[in-house]
Amino acid sequence: MNLIKLNAIDSTNKYLKQLIQESEPENYTVITAETQSNGKGQMGTKWLSESGKNLIVSVLIKDCLNQSSAVFDFNIAIALALYESLNYFEIPDLSIKWANDILSGNKKIAGILIENTIKSDGEIVSIIGFGINVNQTNFDNLPKASSLKNITGKTFDRDLILLKIIENIKINCILLQEKQEDLLWDKYTKLLFRKNKPSVFERTNHQKFMGIIQTVTRDGKLQILLENDEIVAFEVKEIQMLY
Ligand code: BTN
Repeated sequence: MNLIKLNAIDSTNKYLKQLIQESEPENYTVITAETQSNGKGQMGTKWLSESGKNLIVSVLIKDCLNQSSAVFDFNIAIALALYESLNYFEIPDLSIKWANDILSGNKKIAGILIENTIKSDGEIVSIIGFGINVNQTNFDNLPKASSLKNITGKTFDRDLILLKIIENIKINCILLQEKQEDLLWDKYTKLLFRKNKPSVFERTNHQKFMGIIQTVTRDGKLQILLENDEIVAFEVKEIQMLY
């Protein structure tokens, strides 16, 4: 594993993207940073992380997602790798909130941002960016966020967690290469946050509605049973769950 440890950077995903354009970094090149000035979250949000306390990581993966394999299979392989690693460190009450947030109880402890990029020679490579709140204890302006330390009372070695995650990403990528995605899907759908529980959702136009999560479709849509007994599949951009 080629590990590049940075102190401060705007975004590790952006740094890795530039590295790919300029050179030929090896598969599983890992970038970490102590702090990011412009950490990118999903759907244009910012990822905030206290300096030196957490995991801020981007991993280059060249051989897991190819044109024929479904993008969302890859997504769940990564989410499960994080889940399995945090489970290994005995973080309680873990679940995966569609599409790929990792929760403990109802608090978000990790987020993932996957960006696929096309190199000048046409090869598709993936940048797996993830942030895990490890030893940060103050979440004053983030009521839905927590950390491994706040949840367990323990201080964690960030390097050990990172090594476990890389190991689990490799295992799940092998499963995808061997066309064993059904195994990953079985696990993912069982771990879905608020599955089979009545929940409130909000559309992009702020309209709220009640529904019960049934599952996630293979193309990554959330299937919800509505109050009129209709089952509708929503895309990530269309709704958010209120919890
Ligand atoms: C989310 O919104 O839940 C996704 C957060 C992803 C944050 C990580 S931190 C390391 C990598 N670099 C970035 O700029 N973003 C990702």
